[in-house]
Amino acid sequence: MVGDPPRVTGVGSTGGEWHLVVVSDTHLSERVASATDNWSGVVDWLAQTEANLVVHAGDLTLDGIGRPEELAAARDFLDQLPLPWEAVPGNHDIGDTPGPPALSLDRLGAWRDHVGADRWALQVGPWTVLGINAHLLDSGDPEESSQWSWLEEQFAAQPNDAPMVLVLHKPLSASATELAGAPKYRFVGSPARERVEDLLDTRWCPLVVSGHVHQYRVVGQPGRQHAWAPSSWAVLPEYAQATVGLKRCGVLSIKLSESGTAEVAMVEPPGVGQLTLGVDLPDPYDH
Ligand SMILES: [Fe+2]
Ligand SMILES: [Fe+2]
Repeated sequence: MVGDPPRVTGVGSTGGEWHLVVVSDTHLSERVASATDNWSGVVDWLAQTEANLVVHAGDLTLDGIGRPEELAAARDFLDQLPLPWEAVPGNHDIGDTPGPPALSLDRLGAWRDHVGADRWALQVGPWTVLGINAHLLDSGDPEESSQWSWLEEQFAAQPNDAPMVLVLHKPLSASATELAGAPKYRFVGSPARERVEDLLDTRWCPLVVSGHVHQYRVVGQPGRQHAWAPSSWAVLPEYAQATVGLKRCGVLSIKLSESGTAEVAMVEPPGVGQLTLGVDLPDPYDH
């Protein structure tokens, strides 16, 4: 929960760099064998890597909103990971701003009870990795004010010469043309987007990581990469979502160096099946 001691208290390095694996959009549910099978593929692969830390970028559950018991079950799945882990919530876990489904404070409470804090800061060598709750942004709820205060404190305390990674479920930015033409649920909305970007510009933040779109992509900005993590479960069919990146299932591999460079790649673990909703399996969201 917010204010509790951090779950992850120390992250080791491998060969002088820190290997962060980002898993996203697992949509775990005991009702969907393909999701749990692909999760097992990720867990088995991680046991054979030299990764140091796992971050889940949200949409942990298939339907944490409608079935809060899936949030409790998802914690058991996370605890299968052979490495320290942290997670930020997704719209399928707690709702969204704007909805539908709208942000649910009850589900946010269930997330905190079962999974842990929805915002956190980790020290990974010289790097600070910050996770925030994207769905509070522009909600107007007191929880949003509380998160802004916390985030501003984190930035105020951050040395200018130490690199940062920001993790949140929804992508933060793209070109002005793309932002204007995208469906409203795709990106962090305005004015929160500009407020976060203004904060990022006050410090050295070369990497922003998101999930949500189920497509792997790296969007470059001067001095900053925005890495979109793929889903480890399934991609969406063209009739539901146009291709803007790579529609493949897998995970993000990020190597953080001592000097502040971040090397981002997509990995397709052997045990992760390549699935498309509505094609290889029924689409539970009825897109
Ligand atoms: Fe998702
Ligand atoms: Fe999502």
